[in-house]
Amino acid sequence: MANQHRSAYGRTSRWLHWSMAALILVILALGLTVEELAKGPERTALMGWHQSLGVLVLTLAALRLLWRLANPPPPPLGGTLSRRLAPLMHWSLYALMIAQPLSGWLLVQAEGHQLTLFGSLELPVLVAESETLEEILEGVHGTVWMLLALAVLGHVAAALKHHLIDRDATLIRMLRG
Ligand code: HEM
Ligand code: HEM
Repeated sequence: MANQHRSAYGRTSRWLHWSMAALILVILALGLTVEELAKGPERTALMGWHQSLGVLVLTLAALRLLWRLANPPPPPLGGTLSRRLAPLMHWSLYALMIAQPLSGWLLVQAEGHQLTLFGSLELPVLVAESETLEEILEGVHGTVWMLLALAVLGHVAAALKHHLIDRDATLIRMLRG
C-alpha cells in the first residue's frame, strides 16, 4: 500500500479528493451560469470550459478508483450507523461524479456536435445523433447534478459532525493524512 497506511489517507488520495471537489464545484457553477446566458461567444466559451473540465473530472474519477483499488481507504470512524453509512455515501458520490460528466459527453454527441476538449483534443464518438436520446440525456444531466449537490451537502454535514461533535480524526486525516 504505497503512500497510504490503514489509519489515514495518503497524499495522492488527499490531492485527488480536494482537487476534484474544487473542480466539481467550479463546473457546477459554470453549468448554472451558462444556463442563464443567451447564445453567443461568451456562452460558447464558458460551455467549452464546462465540458473540458467535466471530462477531466471523469478521467480523474477513473484514475481515482484505480488508485483506491491499490490503496484501500482507512476504515470509517464513529458508531455503527456512521460506519455503515460512510461507504454507502462514498460509493454514491463516486457513481454520481461519473454519471454526470458521462451523461454530458453523451448529450453533446446525441445533439450531433463534435466534442473537442480544450479546443484541440477530439473525443471518440460514443453515440450517434438522436433526438430521443438527446431528450433523455438532457433529463439525466439536469437531474443528476441535483442529486450530486444533495449528496455533497450531506457529505459535508457528516464531515463537520465528525469534526465538531464526535471530535474524531475523520476530517483531519483527509486534510493532513
Ligand atoms: C462533474 C461534471 C459536471 C457537472 C457537475 C455538470 C453540471 C451541469 C449543470 C448544473 C448544468 C446546468 C443545468 C441543466 O442543464 O439542467 C449543466 C448543463 C450542461 N452540461 Fe454539464 N456538468 C458536468 C459535466 C459535463 C460534461 C463533461 C459535458 C459535456 C462534455 C457537459 C455538458 C453540458 C451541456 C451540453 C449542458 C446544457 C444542457 C442543456 O442545455 O440542457 N456537462 N451541466
Ligand atoms: C464535490 C465535493 C466532494 C466530493 C465529490 C467528495 C467525495 C468524497 C469521496 C468519494 C470520498 C471517499 C474517499 C474514498 O474512500 O475513496 C470522500 C471522503 C471524504 N471527504 Fe469528501 N467530497 C467532496 C467535498 C468534501 C468537503 C467540502 C469536505 C469537508 C468539509 C469533505 C470531507 C471528506 C472527508 C473528511 C472524507 C473522509 C471520510 C472518511 O474518512 O470516512 N469532502 N469525499
